[in-house]
Amino acid sequence: MGALLVRPGRRAAIAILILAQGGALQGVAAEASGELGKRLFTEAASPPCAVCHTLADADAAGAIGPNLDQLKPDPERIKTVLRGGMGAMPAYDSLSDEEVDALAAYVSSATSK
Ligand code: HEC
Repeated sequence: MGALLVRPGRRAAIAILILAQGGALQGVAAEASGELGKRLFTEAASPPCAVCHTLADADAAGAIGPNLDQLKPDPERIKTVLRGGMGAMPAYDSLSDEEVDALAAYVSSATSK
């Protein structure tokens, strides 16, 4: 009787562990696709874009560069300025191609809503 009471509990615990791991993996996948650009924008790029630019989706209110919600740049325009810099904006030589692509995709989609 004692064993019967324990077994379902163990099964439930294992099921919960499996569910928790699945959730964690889904979180990693979402991070890799959509969240990378936003994270670079708000904190990971050096210096972060949010310091100088306004972008509502990222809760950014920087006023040194143009307001990106109004500019609505397309991905090519964003990649060009990230690689070459412009005026007071530095070129981001340290970003990988993947990071530049993620930023271009994030900013263009966040501002074309
Ligand atoms: C030090 C402040 C600063 C930072 C940090 C910064 N920018 Fe800029 N950005 C500017 C300024 C200033 C301009 C306008 C330059 C000009 O018109 O001479 C600009 C222009 C732009 C433009 C418009 C380019 C065009 O073709 O008109 C885009 C898009 C842009 N920035 C995106 C970004 C992104 C994405 C990041 C982060 C990786 C970033 N900026 C970081 C200051 C900054």
